[in-house]
Amino acid sequence: MRGCASQRGTGAVRDGRPSTSRGHASRSPSPRGAAATLRGMFTSSPLTGSKAEQYAALAAQARALLHGERDAIANAANLSALVYHALPDLNWVGFYLFDGTELVVGPFQGLPACVRIPLDKGVCGAAARTRTTQRIDDVHAFPGHIACDSASRSELVVPLYAGERLIGVFDLDSPLPARFDVEDQTGLEAIAAILIESTYPETAA
Ligand code: SME
Repeated sequence: MRGCASQRGTGAVRDGRPSTSRGHASRSPSPRGAAATLRGMFTSSPLTGSKAEQYAALAAQARALLHGERDAIANAANLSALVYHALPDLNWVGFYLFDGTELVVGPFQGLPACVRIPLDKGVCGAAARTRTTQRIDDVHAFPGHIACDSASRSELVVPLYAGERLIGVFDLDSPLPARFDVEDQTGLEAIAAILIESTYPETAA
């Protein structure tokens, strides 16, 4: 099993556009398909259109998948799977959940990961501590980056807050440098907001 270590290096820029290039396009659920998981089914339709349209469709799938369910682990697990299989060029998608002291790995897709991350460490700690999404084009250039998978080159971490309460972070890693652009950030922040709205509806504005 791989360990966790700090890394340094450089990277190049790439346009990260959601598509079906992961090769699992036939497994991306439509909103109708996502709702059908209640009956144990998972029908599929690929994301199409502009990047904004693809993220809008993904958000609709996420809403349908989480609809009526408030269990944090179940919702985080299903969102990890949904996003990992819907978007290309990702090697890790998942959640770190705050236990009152530090971030602890939660549901995810990808290789086994570091278990605990203090709030003053890593990209995840920075997102949680600053309440600001961390979009890192080159993880090797981020001081204190924690390398759970040596393949990771860029990373996006969205902080998860239910009102003032820190819930955790939503973390995505890519083997490509600069995989995430502003549209990816906006789209994935919307997905994270759906998790909070579905799981902690009492905190909705
Ligand atoms: N890279 C993260 C650690 C978590 S893994 O990417 C799954 C960080 O620096 O906080």
